[in-house]
Amino acid sequence: MAVEIKDLKNIQNTTYGVDKIFDGAEDFLPLNGTDYVELYVGNAKQSALYYKTAFGFQSEAFSGMETGVKDKVSYVLKQDKIRLVLTTSLEEGGEINEHINKHGDGVKVVALWVDDATKAWGETTKRGAKSFFEPRKEEDEYGYVVRSGIHTYGETVHIFVERDHYNGVFLPGYKKWESHYNPAPLGLRYIDHMVGNVGWGEMNQWCEFYAKTMGFAQIISFDDNDISTDFTALMSKVMSNGNGRIKFPINEPAKGKKKSQIEEYIDFYNGPGVQHIAVATNDIVKTVSAMRDRGVEFLYVPENYYDDILERVGNIDEDIDVLKKHGILIDRDDEGYLLQLFTKPVVDRPTMFFEIIQRKGAQSFGKGNFKALFEAIEREQENRGTL
Ligand code: FE2
Repeated sequence: MAVEIKDLKNIQNTTYGVDKIFDGAEDFLPLNGTDYVELYVGNAKQSALYYKTAFGFQSEAFSGMETGVKDKVSYVLKQDKIRLVLTTSLEEGGEINEHINKHGDGVKVVALWVDDATKAWGETTKRGAKSFFEPRKEEDEYGYVVRSGIHTYGETVHIFVERDHYNGVFLPGYKKWESHYNPAPLGLRYIDHMVGNVGWGEMNQWCEFYAKTMGFAQIISFDDNDISTDFTALMSKVMSNGNGRIKFPINEPAKGKKKSQIEEYIDFYNGPGVQHIAVATNDIVKTVSAMRDRGVEFLYVPENYYDDILERVGNIDEDIDVLKKHGILIDRDDEGYLLQLFTKPVVDRPTMFFEIIQRKGAQSFGKGNFKALFEAIEREQENRGTL
């Protein structure tokens, strides 16, 4: 199946560099971008140190016993437009511990920045989204925010954040996190897309959920003929909001001779969840080599991937030998090319990982790399005994 990107019209080029209107997407839910991503983790203090050291995130805000919160701790990390919130429980039992027990460390909240969180909740729940919580005003001495939430696949939720009237460091109740340990940022700029893995036969249902309740349009579709190796397969569709700032590919497993990487994820996460967070950089060589120096492990692609690469992708600005040295993958579509690389899982279960992506015109997702990538994942599965 050919990769298809529907009729892109430039409207404005503001903060994200990719402001497009996707035909078919409806505008009842205007989204300004990703506001934050919150992970429930077993040890937020140590996770925060990992993301600061290995990914170059900066200390931003904190909430916990020192700010009057007795039952949980959250560290907020920032790098350019990306905010990560790492939350752990201070108590026995409860929703956070249950989430961690079931899923391991993983993404609970994909928060979306809106102008009107009350309207966002009203429009989505009216169209069938299940409420996570009703619109509520949260305030402190720096002003107020309005937040509301809906459920999506698995136990993942979307929270709408309206923050026009807030000047504090993150959200009401959070204090600036001052740290003496501030490793340099590594050029991660914004979240390019976030991928959800759902169960067998559930992809279309969740794509319809994003179309119906949030007005997203499907921009790309891959079936198991596109995404399969000799052993494993998956299917994927990419849903985008109207201005293209929010893109959610949804994967489901497909039958192969051996176990799909999506099935492995579902087995270990115990259900659907966020598979990877793709973060954009302007200089992938610099970003990836620094991340590697700081301990991040990336998937290994065999050197023969580069043998016929220029025939496949045409001329590129970068030196192939440099890309090869770092294992960076290249793919081209009608609009340009992209460079990408995937980390190994960043948690102990074979579940969540990150993608580092640099777009040079291309708006697609690296279809040409799927085979090499999946063979690399299969080698990891083989090592884990889960293939
Ligand atoms: Fe991706």
